[in-house]
Amino acid sequence: MKSSIQKKKNLTSKLHEESILSVQKVGEVVSKPVEFKTNGDLNSFEEYKKIYHKAKKNPNKFWGEIANKLYWKKPWTNVLKWKPPFAKWFIDGKTNLSYNCLDVHLATSRRNKAAIIFENEIGGTRTLTYSQLHTEVCKFANVLLLLGIKKNDTVGIYMGMVPEAVIAMLACARIGVIHNVVFGGFSAEALKERMIDSNAKLIVTTDGTYRKGELVNLRKTVDKATKELVEIQSIIVLNRNSLKIKLDKNREYDWDDLMKNVNEKNEAKWLDSEHPLFVLYTSGSTGKPKGIFHTLGGYMTWVYYTCKNVFDLSDNDIYWCTADIGWITGHSYVTYGPLLNGATIFMYEGALNYPSADRIWDIIERNKINILYTAPTAIRSFMRLGDENPNKHNLSSLRLLGTVGEPINPEAWLWYFNVIGKKRCPIVDTWWQTETGGIMISSLPGATPMKPGSASLPLPGIQADVVRRDGSSCKPDEGGLLVIKSPWSSMLRNIWGDKERYKKTYFGDFKDWYFTGDGARKDKDGYFWIMGRVDDVVNVSGHRLGTAEVESALVSHKSVAESAVIAKPDEIKGNSLVAFVTLKVGTKATTELKEILKNHVSSEIGSIAKPDEIRFTDSLPKTRSGKIMRRLLREIATNGHIIGDTTTLEDYSSLEKLRDDED
Ligand code: WT7
Repeated sequence: MKSSIQKKKNLTSKLHEESILSVQKVGEVVSKPVEFKTNGDLNSFEEYKKIYHKAKKNPNKFWGEIANKLYWKKPWTNVLKWKPPFAKWFIDGKTNLSYNCLDVHLATSRRNKAAIIFENEIGGTRTLTYSQLHTEVCKFANVLLLLGIKKNDTVGIYMGMVPEAVIAMLACARIGVIHNVVFGGFSAEALKERMIDSNAKLIVTTDGTYRKGELVNLRKTVDKATKELVEIQSIIVLNRNSLKIKLDKNREYDWDDLMKNVNEKNEAKWLDSEHPLFVLYTSGSTGKPKGIFHTLGGYMTWVYYTCKNVFDLSDNDIYWCTADIGWITGHSYVTYGPLLNGATIFMYEGALNYPSADRIWDIIERNKINILYTAPTAIRSFMRLGDENPNKHNLSSLRLLGTVGEPINPEAWLWYFNVIGKKRCPIVDTWWQTETGGIMISSLPGATPMKPGSASLPLPGIQADVVRRDGSSCKPDEGGLLVIKSPWSSMLRNIWGDKERYKKTYFGDFKDWYFTGDGARKDKDGYFWIMGRVDDVVNVSGHRLGTAEVESALVSHKSVAESAVIAKPDEIKGNSLVAFVTLKVGTKATTELKEILKNHVSSEIGSIAKPDEIRFTDSLPKTRSGKIMRRLLREIATNGHIIGDTTTLEDYSSLEKLRDDED
């Protein structure tokens, strides 16, 4: 095991040595500008450029002005102290995130406005106004205090998409407690590891969360994970009354019981700007998960600004981000960003395609959703099912569409634009990471001309570039490494408990610049085209290609729904390209089609990228956040079996099937 990790490291560092060949056709269509009336003042390309340059010239002024839009009990004295690779933002300022999300709205007309409109898979609905949400959060903060939780303690949240998860997060933020939300699909082992690593003292969970017609019993997983964990002093269970469970009186409490008799008043604690806010674990392709650590003032500032400008939130919007609360998107753009802006959040608990394939469109029609933010993997899966599902519904409430999580291939972009947005809605393709806390590269609706497949330009305040190994900037369309050259307020502050790993992972390659781990190219207009993780770059006949581009070429064929490309060792070429392909529903998998697809790639981007082998599959192995696990496909193609860790895999059966095909 050790040697395979070692080998991989060498390979990665070798990959860094040269630039990446970009084979994607350059100069793709710029979509016609969409008529879009913005609510804010970032409403033209000229305005964007003006603010971008102003921010670059005087970053402290730019960041300070955004921070001052929020409430600070004690004003900060300096914007930034930057001792690479460690940053401190809004020095000496005291504030509170929960106060800025809730209390500030109570004296305004937002008091009785819906903060959360909730719906679950079986059709149950609930609405919480700002005032009601505030009361629930105050009560839950008091519950935590009563159970002995103190400022700087860590609380685990393992719940699924229920308003109580948001309440728990806000309650932690209110009293200076660090939250560690773990996605409800993770195993007991993964949960345990994350609880131990973050020193959690209490876990909030539920006895059931809806998923494809089933109630998943999360409390059972918590039980398994914490059996021998004496560090977990209390477990709070949101009882959905589904399982008639008996609680362990020694340390388990019923959410409703606790909330019944508790005080409704709780004064938000005034906390230092650099006070720990949360830790959220991301799994890399190797090694143990990294606890990405964010702090209060800087995170709040950037999440507020990006949510406001990228999603153009207005007081009339109903905004739906389909991400789970267990991912950074669920933190920044389900919870904190929209609430800081006083928006109405639509929240859904369940599968987007259950009980029928048009559930997502049905939800949009019934709730008159105005802004939809989802992932390319979801878009492709809906595209695969055909246009009849969205076409059955009135989607005219939509005015803005967003994507996040991986590169969106132009084919899926155009489908989203034409079939869902009916050519009326701008698409914001937002590039960012758990580590960046908020959106970094994205078009601004109504301002930035869009290019399908490109995340477009860095937001004001963000100094992104594509560079070679030696740090020199790449030429237009030359693929290289995506770096951020100056600090931004929502950057991670550390990897929980592992300073050395933080330094090495993000600041080890280029001194003082943050290395994202992604490959990218900038075109002649300065637009960024993300080529995926550098770990996913393949080397064929001495050329280094980003797999995302070959995949995009495959998906541009009318019969292909999704694909994943990997390299397997080849005696002659060094590596050969294997493409795993999912076909659109109703398309027959034939040997002939394999040849057609190979030639299609060849004519789209050149023979160098022509796959040597095509394998058809019903589904691809993905992480629970929807990212294709190319590492597993590499192992299948090379060895015929998997040796590495599969705990983050969403659907194990997809691998089983691939293996059967092999035999
Ligand atoms: C990685 C970060 C950011 C929230 C969800 C994922 C890829 C993300 C895009 C995009 C191309 C993207 C990158 C990045 N990625 N957004 N719009 N275009 N690639 O957070 O799990 O921390 O993953 O996702 O590779 O590094 P994450």
